Amino acid sequence: MTEAIVCRRLVGRTAVITGAGSGIGLATARRLASEGAHVVCGDVDEARGKAVADEVGGIFVKVDVTDAEQVEALFRAAHDTYGSVDIAFNNAGISPPDDDSILETGLEAWKRVQEVNLTSVYLCCKAAIPYMRQQGRGSIINTASFVARMGAATSQISYTASKGGVLAMSRELGVQFARDGIRVNALCPGPVNTPPPPGAVRQGPGARRPPPGAHPVGRVRRGRGDRRRGRLPRERRLLLS
Ligand SMILES: NC(=O)c1ccc[n+]([C@@H]2O[C@H](COP(=O)([O-])OP(=O)(O)OC[C@H]3O[C@@H](n4cnc5c(N)ncnc54)[C@H](O)[C@@H]3O)[C@@H](O)[C@H]2O)c1
Repeated sequence: MTEAIVCRRLVGRTAVITGAGSGIGLATARRLASEGAHVVCGDVDEARGKAVADEVGGIFVKVDVTDAEQVEALFRAAHDTYGSVDIAFNNAGISPPDDDSILETGLEAWKRVQEVNLTSVYLCCKAAIPYMRQQGRGSIINTASFVARMGAATSQISYTASKGGVLAMSRELGVQFARDGIRVNALCPGPVNTPPPPGAVRQGPGARRPPPGAHPVGRVRRGRGDRRRGRLPRERRLLLS
């Protein structure tokens, strides 16, 4: 359900959101739509992305944010449909379980996380900026994480490095494109209670939790005993993250 309207700051503006099918992207789609924006929902998950687009009265574009051509097509669809690209919320990200301590994380896991979390932001900014320069205005918001500034007690080495890259890239783009009227910011959220992946079964406190892929910071440093017992309760995991 679309949120109650708070104010209408975005009437006539077009917002592209990646990872709109779930969690922070979904909440953002609802909020921007409630403020009057045309919302373009990009997600690799067709069913969830389309459902969100229908709910907020926007359009859905299936996109794998690691693919340059698909990312270009996403922003082109926004411009062709609504005539402008005013907001780019480059938000899609992953945190797979095989991204762990540097001592355990293999090169393939490292590369995959860099592709989805960092290269994707490079691709989305590269695709959005030309439209924004032409318009003489625009707002880019890239989702980083608090781990970019603080590190995490439960290491996800590639995730943290990717978010550090998002933060640094956002600063540099902000400086470079301010003269074109383009604002570039990065969000560094703390733990957010985003939903488990489809099909995951929630059980009682202390029970084995869903795989951590749906919770970018929701990883737990398991001691030897914990590894045998399964994951700690979510609240505790978040405190440890
Ligand atoms: N949840 C948290 O605690 C938290 C904290 C800090 C930062 N973040 C960051 O916020 C962003 C959103 O996280 P969330 O918790 O809402 O996650 P989520 O898993 O709920 O949603 C992520 C969405 O991105 C989509 N996605 C994944 N890979 C994709 C790809 N290759 N191409 C297109 N779409 C893809 C998924 O289908 C999903 O709809 C991520 O960048 C995450 O790292 C989350």
